[in-house]
Amino acid sequence: MATIDDAIGVFDSGIGGLTVVKKIAEKMPNENIIYFGDTARVPYGTKSNSTVIEYSLQDAGFLVQKNVKLIVVACNTASSVALPALREKFDVPVIGMIFPGAALASKQSGTGKIGVIGTNATVNNKAYSNELLKIDSRFDIIEKACPLFVPLAEEGWVDHRATKLIAKEYLQELKDYGIDTLILGCTHYPLLTNVIKKAVGDGVKMIDSGTAAAITVEYYLINEGLRNYRETPGRYEYFVSDLPEKFKSVAERFLGKEIDSLKKVDIEYLLGLI
Ligand code: DGL
Repeated sequence: MATIDDAIGVFDSGIGGLTVVKKIAEKMPNENIIYFGDTARVPYGTKSNSTVIEYSLQDAGFLVQKNVKLIVVACNTASSVALPALREKFDVPVIGMIFPGAALASKQSGTGKIGVIGTNATVNNKAYSNELLKIDSRFDIIEKACPLFVPLAEEGWVDHRATKLIAKEYLQELKDYGIDTLILGCTHYPLLTNVIKKAVGDGVKMIDSGTAAAITVEYYLINEGLRNYRETPGRYEYFVSDLPEKFKSVAERFLGKEIDSLKKVDIEYLLGLI
């Protein structure tokens, strides 16, 4: 039986899921969080669906071992393909990025012309389009993979002229299409919001799937009587499968605060979980 003191488990292919942790922490500062970043096997966005499903099962298996009360699949790529397998395998509830992001976009869009950007895998799986069309079949959606945004965000080139050029190249098509709402369907993209906004036009509403997921997480916890309202701040534990030092420095930049509990997990251990 889950208790309110159990942590929220969050996993991502690497560091990007911290943008989601940040949103959850802002909304629910008293919740404990256990984060697993699969830094040894990142990126997921260029891999096949079967590989992403296998990795996701191992990542979630790690969190289940830690007795989390809920699993947040902070990676859009994993969310686009692995949710059915995760829900079948584990009894712990699993929340992904796609439905919350699509639901928020559907509320924000006035014209119904919605753009979606993400990794190759997320866009090829048409995860956001499928979810949006379930909400309203009249939505007019354009999807575009923007794979170079991930390394640019990790490099901290959030305002670099190279990033601006690449953003224009990727996003001109969406601007010309006349979208009024854009789903940032990848963990890293919220870091590039300013550049993306300029490339698609200031009037376009930006949907950060992390913000949307944090709303869903809180709603779920309240509904299940699992929301932690204690007054002290939550504990944060971070685990990665490789290069903890690199994770630490990028993560502290992402989160804007120090990380004090960080451990490396052996891939062999992960492989043994499933
Ligand atoms: N976390 C991934 C996502 O949100 C981006 C990085 C990767 O390709 O693994 O889709």
